[in-house]
Amino acid sequence: MVQRVSTVAFEGIEVRPVDVQVQIAPGMPAFTIVGLPDKAVSEARERVRSAMIASGLALPARRITINLAPADLPKEGSHYDLPIALGLMAAIGAIPHDAVAGLTVLGELGLDGSIAPVAGVLPAAIGANARGEGLICPAACGPEAAWASPEIEIIAAASLIQLANHFKGTQVLSRPQPKILEAAGAALDLGDIKGQESAKRALEVAAAGGHNLLMVGPPGAGKSMLAARLPSILPPLAPAELLEVSMIASVAGEIEGGALTNRRPFRAPHHSASMPALVGGGLHARPGEVSLAHHGVLFLDELPEFSGIM
Ligand SMILES: Nc1ncnc2c1ncn2[C@@H]1O[C@H](COP(=O)(O)OP(=O)(O)OP(=O)(O)O)[C@@H](O)[C@H]1O
Ligand SMILES: [Mg+2]
Repeated sequence: MVQRVSTVAFEGIEVRPVDVQVQIAPGMPAFTIVGLPDKAVSEARERVRSAMIASGLALPARRITINLAPADLPKEGSHYDLPIALGLMAAIGAIPHDAVAGLTVLGELGLDGSIAPVAGVLPAAIGANARGEGLICPAACGPEAAWASPEIEIIAAASLIQLANHFKGTQVLSRPQPKILEAAGAALDLGDIKGQESAKRALEVAAAGGHNLLMVGPPGAGKSMLAARLPSILPPLAPAELLEVSMIASVAGEIEGGALTNRRPFRAPHHSASMPALVGGGLHARPGEVSLAHHGVLFLDELPEFSGIM
């Protein structure tokens, strides 16, 4: 019999549903993962095996095949560990066969059976909610997932044992609550600047209207100093903007402790940054500085030094 668990693959900030199919068949003991896994996904084998042993579950000495469908979509990242482990646990009867039906699962496993935080939980939760599914995610990412909708079912567990107990009903996990980090006063304040009334006026106009600003002047005139203080006069993010900005930060793995922030992003890449670092993309496509500055400020100090821009 084939056990199925749903999870996701990321394409930019879009999520694509992925079906993890687990089969335990008679034959020589083996553990294979197919379906275009990258190195991190292939290594899930060792993490899953160790995490299950640490949780008191031994893998049967049979032929185990994991297929990540659709087979032609490349799978990257470490978040396939948990769906593979839960598929195996359901296949060997450690949790009920239908326990993970209607739930999208993502999480990375430690060798001790702990569930480590992964990138992209917010878009995964929004995708699961759109399909009418719930979500199983690492405990540290629970507050992030709770932003998707007040109704979506979320199981945020810290270890495989907690999940097994949750499904047995011996220790039910409560639903995490959405968390927000209120924008604290910016460290650098526009009020520190003496004089420069016209430059300050220009900053205010740019901040209010969302305009671009090009500063030209002699060395030491205060250009870098003025630009770095722009965040102190920006308004907090509106709720819709907050979700958009957080989706990008989530995929880039930049959300700490599951709490979203309503502070506008301020990105100041160095002028030696490479093109993929600035505009995103590359082999493992991740958002670049331009995307990470969405709804905020992209500060290019020493603009003429940036290769490819001038
Ligand atoms: N109007 C001002 N009020 C307070 N401090 C100032 C002012 N103008 C310049 N300074 C001081 O001068 C320093 C140098 O300014 P800054 O580095 O921003 O200049 P810049 O225009 O970016 O120069 P460069 O073209 O060399 O990068 C600031 O860090 C600050 O200490
Ligand atoms: Mg400067």
